[in-house]
Amino acid sequence: MSYSKKSIKDYIIADKQEAFFKLNSEVYTDPYLFNLEMEKIFYKGWIYLCHESQLKVPNDYLTTYIGEIPIILARTEEGKIVGLINRCRHRGSLVCRQQKGNSKFFRCPYHGWTYSNDGRLVGIPDSEGYPEQFNMEKLGLIKIPKLVNYYGFIFGSLSSDVPEFENYIGEAGKLLRLIAKKFPGGIEVLRGYHKYGIPINWKLAFENAVDHYHAPFVHESYFEAVGHNPGRRIDLRSKDLSLYLGKGHLVDLMFREYEIYEVDEKGSPWYLNNNNDLTEIEKKWASKITFHLAIFPNVIVFDVASPGPTIRVIRPVKVNYTEVYSYYYLPKNAPKEYKEKELRASLRFYGPAGMGTPDDLEVLKLATEGYKVKEKEGKYNDLSRGIHRDFRYHEILELVNAEMIGHGTDDTGYRGFYKWWAKIVFDEELDF
Ligand code: FES
Ligand SMILES: [Fe+2]
Repeated sequence: MSYSKKSIKDYIIADKQEAFFKLNSEVYTDPYLFNLEMEKIFYKGWIYLCHESQLKVPNDYLTTYIGEIPIILARTEEGKIVGLINRCRHRGSLVCRQQKGNSKFFRCPYHGWTYSNDGRLVGIPDSEGYPEQFNMEKLGLIKIPKLVNYYGFIFGSLSSDVPEFENYIGEAGKLLRLIAKKFPGGIEVLRGYHKYGIPINWKLAFENAVDHYHAPFVHESYFEAVGHNPGRRIDLRSKDLSLYLGKGHLVDLMFREYEIYEVDEKGSPWYLNNNNDLTEIEKKWASKITFHLAIFPNVIVFDVASPGPTIRVIRPVKVNYTEVYSYYYLPKNAPKEYKEKELRASLRFYGPAGMGTPDDLEVLKLATEGYKVKEKEGKYNDLSRGIHRDFRYHEILELVNAEMIGHGTDDTGYRGFYKWWAKIVFDEELDF
């Protein structure tokens, strides 16, 4: 079969009546598919870029990527956030090599062309060497066609004809709003972050962040160390929910108990007392749930008290290599003790020397090792958990209108994710 003839049926076999959903693990290893994903998902869709608090004051900037394309995000002197392609208009070098900083100008390291942080080309060494027709005004850094600040979360697109942002973010927007409004004064991303590269496909990193089923196994040693061992009674966790929100967004949602440092003497969390930014329904749910929100295709927001609140950004580099950036955030106006406890909880679990993330990485590498198996039946992953019990009604619908709901450890969210993926990558509706 030639590559050009590949269709979704080469990757997914599913039947709701017969209750099976099988994913060919070549979705994680096929370079052809990776290129298709870059083109259809990363270059034609919306991508999460950063949080506005990472560009706190005028002239703050940071660099990132959309797929392979290098990007600069900067807050101009006037306070406006702009997105620029990090490529010199002279002969192509990156103009900014730093990961973040504060500067009004970017001077290309190659021949010294200098751009202001709003993208204008403002200086050329020995400019007399250029002809009269040479027009500096036309040689500014290229702007990202679409940039949106949604409750402080900044998304962009390299394509000018993407669907409206509201259409893309859909129901996931309601949970982003909840995260942004839950703490009076909002949230703030901390300056330090962790970045690591792993020899796995980007989708594995994305999926793992909302995998409720793996926790008692992969993180057994962590739970033991913190004295909170849920045991292997997975059924105990089935009251939690796996939500598919539509548009490729999914949620691992847990019903929660408060950490002792979150509550006042009446047992009520400090941030919900006198919080006028939330609706009554948001308030009700904010006090009941905690969640991992995976927004298609590259960010997961961990709205959790323990391990602490994190924004995890996934950057696909090659079909079998992914970079992950873990940014930790805290409520701006939280009591000091709360901030300290939360930060420690984050580092204890997510940091490179933490007790959680290194175990995840190990098991994701083991899975990738297994994907070398190309045997006709043996190369399929099974995503049928809970397929017989997906349900459409739950009280949570008053907060967020999920398309599919499953028990916490079910594959409901993944089935939704791959349904959307099939639509975007192959332009085919999965008959499911
Ligand atoms: S490539 Fe940037 S100045 Fe020459
Ligand atoms: Fe994990």
